[in-house]
Amino acid sequence: MKNTHNIKISSFVGIMAITIISFVLMDGCKVPESIANKSGAQLWGENCNRCHNAPDPKTYSDDQWDAAIEHMRQKAILTDTEINKIRAFLKSAN
Ligand code: HEC
Repeated sequence: MKNTHNIKISSFVGIMAITIISFVLMDGCKVPESIANKSGAQLWGENCNRCHNAPDPKTYSDDQWDAAIEHMRQKAILTDTEINKIRAFLKSAN
């Protein structure tokens, strides 16, 4: 009788642990709110002037931005979300 009770408790603890771990893991895959709330223009202003003056969107055509962004994504170590927002901003403002 006592044993059955213990098994129930331990499976409950196990399920709770799995639930908590899954929440933590899912959260890790979400885009952090600090990035999700930022516009491409903001991210451009914050990231693209760390090493040089942030280039004017008008400097390049869409195709040239694609090339430059690929180049700078490696230097700036930005996430896909950040770089996609910056790219969209640059192309909308050139
Ligand atoms: C970690 C430093 C660093 C960051 C952050 C950075 N850049 Fe650069 N960028 C450089 C360096 C160094 C050069 C010049 C040498 C070279 O081209 O490798 C450069 C050159 C450029 C050029 C000239 C063309 C080219 O492709 O070389 C453009 C355009 C440019 N950056 C845009 C950006 C944009 C847009 C961002 C923001 C997403 C950015 N950079 C962020 C370091 C950086």
